[in-house]
Amino acid sequence: MNAMLLLMDINQGDIVLEAGSGSGALSLFLSRAVGPLGHVISYEVRKDHHSIAKTNYQNWRAAWKIEHTVEWPDNVQFINEDVSTAAEGLKMKIFDAVALDMLIPQNAAIAVVPNLKQGGVCAVYLANITQVIQLLEAIRTSRSALFCESIIEVTHRKWLVHPVTQKNGNTFQHMKSKGNMVEDLTCRYENDELSAEQSEDDEILVSDRAEPPYVAKPHLCQSSHTAFLVKLRKFNPPDTKKAPGDDC
Ligand SMILES: C[S@@+](CC[C@H](N)C(=O)[O-])C[C@H]1O[C@@H](n2cnc3c(N)ncnc32)[C@H](O)[C@@H]1O
Repeated sequence: MNAMLLLMDINQGDIVLEAGSGSGALSLFLSRAVGPLGHVISYEVRKDHHSIAKTNYQNWRAAWKIEHTVEWPDNVQFINEDVSTAAEGLKMKIFDAVALDMLIPQNAAIAVVPNLKQGGVCAVYLANITQVIQLLEAIRTSRSALFCESIIEVTHRKWLVHPVTQKNGNTFQHMKSKGNMVEDLTCRYENDELSAEQSEDDEILVSDRAEPPYVAKPHLCQSSHTAFLVKLRKFNPPDTKKAPGDDC
């Protein structure tokens, strides 16, 4: 979510288009980023998802009110409609940015270009790289005013930080904390090959110093990435047929 907000360079007061609403989670982040002076229009084609997003958003606002003196801005308009065919509803609306998170975003991206301001960014969240290729190819063949400025992969790298073991396998007496050694059940090894390798590494670092000896390293078992984010910027080149000074 934060990476998407950064790509779009969203500011207080901005008007942002989102599709699809899904659970409404991204809508919340957009809502806070544009603030009370801004506005988010969020399209969702499925009736059930549209209702969930609306409910989640209002529940969030109600929960926020309990702990804060200032209300969460009521600045998201949820619309139950296919964004690719929403041209009529979007007529005359110009957005500072567009956020797309859907299975096949190419039709939507191309359809909303006229409503994106010159220089505005359309950020697209995609789960796999083949979807990224399909998106770029659709944009290339449509000859729309969108240009791909960057493609980034958002990853989270799990680390292990825990007290080292002594050569005899015991942990140091004065160590109370177990660091983040709590076993991730989804990450158990079928055989102990990797675990054995891991404990060998840890033994190398055994120390007799008084301060707590710790080992910190990337976890051997990594979960996958969270997303590919494609940054498309709208740019309509100036009319090259005009001679310099024609506008004067
Ligand atoms: C991955 S979910 C979005 C998750 C959302 N960003 C969140 O934070 O929960 C994708 C959503 O896009 C919706 N969708 C797919 N195609 C659409 C379209 N053409 N117009 C509007 N919504 C669409 C799907 O019904 C689904 O709810």
